[in-house]
Amino acid sequence: MPRYVPPVLGPNTLLSVNTALELHDRIYQTMPWQEPASLSEKEYWDITAYLVRERGLDPMRDPLDANRAGNLRLHPGSLSEPAASAVPAPSSAAGPLRASGYVVVAIVMLIGLLGLAAGFLLRRARRGDA
Ligand code: HEM
Repeated sequence: MPRYVPPVLGPNTLLSVNTALELHDRIYQTMPWQEPASLSEKEYWDITAYLVRERGLDPMRDPLDANRAGNLRLHPGSLSEPAASAVPAPSSAAGPLRASGYVVVAIVMLIGLLGLAAGFLLRRARRGDA
């Protein structure tokens, strides 16, 4: 079973596809997860139309087909078309956290180095006194 299943409804979903046609093709090629392409052509179009409608968009006439789906943009409000790379990978959430971890490690190492240098200088100064 997959460890992460992305939401397909709601804000910031389906960012890897631009049109209803791309959504249909994606679902057809990869879903259901255990057995892609196992549903009928009509079922894939019905699911696509459902997802389109749930986004508040008009799938136009029923059933949806490749011609109309190709012209149906899923993210009409966005200025630039989202690319596949715009999809946040689940692990990317750890990005900023990991970065700040590196900063903490660097600071700790710097303090350690300063301590070593101070100890070295102090010892040398004492030796000089003697
Ligand atoms: C006919 C039923 C299903 C439909 C319509 C469907 C739809 C989708 C869609 C549209 C995406 C792409 C989401 C995105 O790119 O943002 C997706 C991804 C995913 N779905 Fe499904 N899904 C179905 C069944 C399942 C089942 C049964 C499972 C698991 C048991 C599953 C697991 C996943 C996983 C792991 C992903 C992310 C990986 C990938 O994009 O290939 N899905 N699904």
